[in-house]
Amino acid sequence: MANIFSGIKPSGDLTLGNYIGAITNFVKLQDEHNCYFCVVDLHAITVPQDRADLKKRTKDIAALYLACGIDPKKATVFIQSEVPAHTQLGWLLECNTYIGELNRMTQFKDKAQKNGTDGLTSGLYTYPVLMAADILLYDSNLVPVGDDQKQHVEIARDIAVRFNNKYGETFILPETYAHKVGARIMDLQDPTKKMSKSDNDKGCILLLDDPKIIHKKIMSAITDSESIVKFDKENKPGISNLLTIYSKITNLTIEELEGKFVNANYGEFKKALADELVTFITPIQNRFNEIRNSKELDDILDEGAMIANQYANRKVQKVMKKIGLIRK
Ligand code: TYM
Repeated sequence: MANIFSGIKPSGDLTLGNYIGAITNFVKLQDEHNCYFCVVDLHAITVPQDRADLKKRTKDIAALYLACGIDPKKATVFIQSEVPAHTQLGWLLECNTYIGELNRMTQFKDKAQKNGTDGLTSGLYTYPVLMAADILLYDSNLVPVGDDQKQHVEIARDIAVRFNNKYGETFILPETYAHKVGARIMDLQDPTKKMSKSDNDKGCILLLDDPKIIHKKIMSAITDSESIVKFDKENKPGISNLLTIYSKITNLTIEELEGKFVNANYGEFKKALADELVTFITPIQNRFNEIRNSKELDDILDEGAMIANQYANRKVQKVMKKIGLIRK
């Protein structure tokens, strides 16, 4: 049995990309492993957040975890800021991370290149170290994430190796756990870009989108001029992305789907996908509405914070001892 940690930050509403890339693996792993699934609210504040929105989204994401099939009897579900050991370990690890390593993080580099570093916070810059703390705190063996987070799991591993060499065996070396197909769901309007909650509204499906909006977004997805439903990432990125989504929500293989739509035009294919998506998302939305404002959700998060605090506090004490931060 492995330890698993992963998180989603409430900087926007949950997307189909988050679901396919990350949550499907959370649900799969919870049956056999010791799982911690966190709403990483401290990561969201690396960029400005409206107070009320942040509060709302944090609970929305926790409720969506459950609505998507995470079972609190199998996995510990909690909010990052309710477990102070994350920031404690974050600082201890910052003092063991080099500026050069952070300079190589592509997410920060991309943001800095786009708009310069003026107005970017130091929290955004050191964010990968807090993420390393999240992971290492729970002795995580596997970290289920989408493609875009692989570099951050690698730096967590590098920090763990360095710490272990310096202070003796302390941290488990984590590994990324990602889908072969579906680790990067693309924007429906620009299939060369990752589907993202912070970008294009029309290109991104939200788990709480109205069925009519889902239909509209799928029907207006960018494709190509060929009208052949075939997976070809390089030459047909739009259709390949839609096929990936279709496959992930129905469990039909790409080949089965190519066969099923061999005589269909793009309009027919898109309509079938939109119908499947609505069929798949409606029960998630119904369950979300049942639990979002329930006492059940608060009870689950209270219990989750208690379990996570127990594990994390013990770990932080061990790490502090190794460093020499101990009076007796
Ligand atoms: P975040 O909140 O941006 O995304 C949450 C998860 O969703 C995946 N994801 C996608 N997968 C496939 N296609 C997409 N278009 C897509 N968009 C997002 C992400 O890869 C991620 O797995 N830094 C992290 C949050 C974090 C974390 C952690 C994750 C903080 N601490 C510790 C794992 C372990 C982030 O910003 O993810």
